Amino acid sequence: MRKKFYLTTPVYYVNDVPHIGHTYTTVAADALARYKRMRGYEVFFLTGTDEHGDKIQQAARKKETTPIELANRVVSRFQSLWKTLHISNDDFLRTTEERHIKVVKEVFLKLYRQDDIYKGTYEGWYCTPCETFWLESQLEGKRVCPECGQAVKKIKEESYLFRLSRYQNRLLQHLEKNPEFVLPPTRKNEVVQFIRGGLRDLSVTRLRLPWGIRCPVDEKHTIYVWVDALLNYISALSYPSDSLFLSFWPANVQLVGKDILKFHAIIWPALLMALGLEPPRLVFAHGWWKMTGEKMSKSKGNIVDPNPLIKDYGADALRYFLLREVPFGEDGSFSLPLFVKRVNSDLANDLGNLLNRTVPLVTRSCGGRIPHPQDGNSAGFEDLTKNTLSRLDQFMDRLSFSEALSAIWQMVKAANLYIDRSAPWRLAKEEEKQKELHTVLYNLLETLRILALILFPFIPSSAQKIWEEIGMEENLDSQILEARDIWGGLVPGREVKKGPPLFPRIKE
Ligand code: MSP
Repeated sequence: MRKKFYLTTPVYYVNDVPHIGHTYTTVAADALARYKRMRGYEVFFLTGTDEHGDKIQQAARKKETTPIELANRVVSRFQSLWKTLHISNDDFLRTTEERHIKVVKEVFLKLYRQDDIYKGTYEGWYCTPCETFWLESQLEGKRVCPECGQAVKKIKEESYLFRLSRYQNRLLQHLEKNPEFVLPPTRKNEVVQFIRGGLRDLSVTRLRLPWGIRCPVDEKHTIYVWVDALLNYISALSYPSDSLFLSFWPANVQLVGKDILKFHAIIWPALLMALGLEPPRLVFAHGWWKMTGEKMSKSKGNIVDPNPLIKDYGADALRYFLLREVPFGEDGSFSLPLFVKRVNSDLANDLGNLLNRTVPLVTRSCGGRIPHPQDGNSAGFEDLTKNTLSRLDQFMDRLSFSEALSAIWQMVKAANLYIDRSAPWRLAKEEEKQKELHTVLYNLLETLRILALILFPFIPSSAQKIWEEIGMEENLDSQILEARDIWGGLVPGREVKKGPPLFPRIKE
């Protein structure tokens, strides 16, 4: 039986259309999902949308529509964006779907019956943009949300509460025993500090909020949107009994932005513990894309729309930029000049030119057919390949996408240097240098084949183009990456097919 790998993104709010912040989480998840598939795992990659709650209700009101109509409209924007970006998710869950609602109600009922949820009153401050409850003490005298700076409103009402406080010690023990449960380490420390500060029971229902899942024990209430949303990760697997659930839970990696880490590293594992389930293996909190020093968000009006970037420069240029530019876990600044610079130097110059210099040489001097390597001398590329593959595996295990790409680029650069040094265009002119020429071209084409394989998780459609240009006919997306025996998979005698430039240079 193949090893399983379950990977999730957050479910995105449908109060507004997607921007590059959302794109970032999804693209990173996609690269990891594709990589794991190529490593032989059976992957289940889940994404979706978070459609209930005050925030969506208010957004719909502003747009003079109903919440579900707004959701339907915005969901299609997410879905079409993921399609243009070649996102390979195995499922897309909307929290308004019946399969999800059913599980949320069942879970609520179970927790209520076992006294993990009880009826009480909630008194505190609520931030609608963050859908978060705050205590008086957390506001430090101000009436604004410590997370987003927007005004909070006082709530005192009857509510059902989840006994979060009951899980405080178990959560701390879990974090201690599993140092890799929350990464990066600095974020984990924040979580530990927060728990040590004391956990209070969590209000998990709202009165007078029609847009939500009805509380199964009290019709006046709807279920708190964060509890509703978090449960998507198991409802999509048809918790509790489906074979999908039994074989894929616990999740291997749950990707979140740092703004929503506490929900995923505190409330979520506590809910799972209450259900008698294991917490996910890893919750990874990535950083923010900022504009002019601030987190991109609709309310600040500083968002970057991914669609025009994709239209002008291609999905792969954006995917590459997002994953290469900033170490995963840190914040980054988005600017068009940075984007253009990165795409031109790495994709147009380094990678594009490598392909562009190699394939025409084969056309001109080998009749367009892949030559046989004459002396089995890989000029160091066989070792470099093995070494790159093993580093790649380590980087991908740590979700260091940027370092993974930088390791791959060492190979791209080495191949470009090899062309310069071996000057195949000169060899082509000398009768007695034909063997040498064939070896050089073979080594370059074989390096390109390996590059197509290892770049596939990051820039899938460009990798496919490289693959086809060098005469590969096998399905790229069903290839398995194995360091052993990888060198030599190219098929001599097949025809190369020159295509248009992979990444045309962008005018700066
Ligand atoms: N609906 C909740 C998540 C529920 S998961 C059970 C939510 N949705 S969101 O649409 O606001 O954000 C979803 C993801 O996008 C988060 O991981 C968030 O960090 C990410 N990003 C939103 N803006 C971002 C940036 N400017 N930069 C990077 N990622 C950010 O929260």
